[in-house]
Amino acid sequence: MNTYIGIDLGTSSVKLLLVTADGAILRSATKEYPIYYPHSGWSEQNPKDWLKATTEGLDELLDGYSRYEVKGVSFGGQMHGLVLLDEYDNVIRPAILWNDGRTQKQTDYLNAVIGKEKLSQYTANIAFAGFTAPKILWVKDNEPENFAKIAKIMLPKDYLAYKLTGIHSTDYSDASGTLLLDVQNKCWSDKMCDICSVKREWLPKLYESYERIGQVRDEYRLPNAIVTAGAGDNAAAAIGTGTVKNGDCNISIGTSGTVFIAQDGFSVDNNNALHSFAHATGKYHLMGCILSAGSCNKWWIEEILQTKDFATEQEDLDELLGENDVIFLPYLMGERSPHNDVNARGCFIGMRPDTTRRHMTLAVMEGVAFALRDCIEVAKGNGLKIKSTKICGGGAKSAIWKKIISNVFAMPVSVLSVEEGPSYGATILAMVGAKEYTNINEAVNALVTTKSVVQPNNDLIEKYEKRYRKFQKLYPALKDFFCND
Ligand code: XUL
Repeated sequence: MNTYIGIDLGTSSVKLLLVTADGAILRSATKEYPIYYPHSGWSEQNPKDWLKATTEGLDELLDGYSRYEVKGVSFGGQMHGLVLLDEYDNVIRPAILWNDGRTQKQTDYLNAVIGKEKLSQYTANIAFAGFTAPKILWVKDNEPENFAKIAKIMLPKDYLAYKLTGIHSTDYSDASGTLLLDVQNKCWSDKMCDICSVKREWLPKLYESYERIGQVRDEYRLPNAIVTAGAGDNAAAAIGTGTVKNGDCNISIGTSGTVFIAQDGFSVDNNNALHSFAHATGKYHLMGCILSAGSCNKWWIEEILQTKDFATEQEDLDELLGENDVIFLPYLMGERSPHNDVNARGCFIGMRPDTTRRHMTLAVMEGVAFALRDCIEVAKGNGLKIKSTKICGGGAKSAIWKKIISNVFAMPVSVLSVEEGPSYGATILAMVGAKEYTNINEAVNALVTTKSVVQPNNDLIEKYEKRYRKFQKLYPALKDFFCND
């Protein structure tokens, strides 16, 4: 029996899946690692922690299963993170993550001095603080001794692929988030390399996500496994949820929240508020990303309410749907789409003496749904017609959250039979690379099925529409208050 391994290198943990060629999940394993916040708005991880967690996770995953039957491995990974290696393959400094906001100066330089128009022309995107290129400039400006040591630049999952195969690779979907890729023409941009003082030899070779990059090294004892390049976690999740046809939409509620819209052709959002990236299918997608989604819920329940019992906290909230006057702005780490503001912060507004923790818990989930709706509105402004969506990520396990999203978006939300978006997508990328299926569409048709559909209800759509209109007014009203000065 041929089996495949999908590895999703997330922000809080790595999730591994062992899957048969016909899509049955044999086992999953999850290993956590720390995230460091050395200064306000910074976020870092140690690539060695990722590798240790992945190696331990592989052993747990395969315990009792044949290592010979594993025919392929692939990845989904947190995007944009900057991993720097020196000429001896040592990690130079902790990885600077996708939700790190330290690069405002470098982001402003790119957007204002180089200019958004040129950036968009070279890469199809503008600079956001979390993207990789501003981080490279930050290291150059603030840690010249580290900058001088750079021999290789990698994205998080590519570090794992490198350790597993010895091959320095990346894929087009993940490379899109560096701001160094010419997304339309699928090649590194020489202009961007010059602007960011990046030497071309630092950058990995580019592959399609389902292309074979090499074989697993002997020390990992998977003698028959090929490795394919994998994808950024959102593109991998889109494969895992079957979001592959033009106009298909997937929402992910992980640490971040994303609205992912598959596109057959290349296009750029009028104001670059949505990212224009390559898809793991070989085509393209548009995407809005909010920096704090599942993480808002985790923060509220674990840090503030001091419990881990998410299910009890979310019980009996149904009767409050559409009636909650408390509004939460989910900008705990600043915001990417659509505001592009590293200084934005979370807030609750509208409490009364009879407000309870249930209203606040609900407001957190509603606030995330409203912020995702902001991304949908930008997509609609570009003429895209989104009639329904799929959903994945930890937050998608919550029945009440799915109901809120369906009503805030006024559209049906499809829940997949396999809810492990990125890691399942990664196994599909491995299967296509190993020729188990001839292409992504064939694999997705065979392996991805819908379990249920959450339908919105007219009364709630109307109530949430009114609340969303209020939510929309809050960020512009508070923008100056968030400002650093
Ligand atoms: C996407 C983004 C996040 C990370 C989270 O642009 O920054 O979704 O990929 O893992």
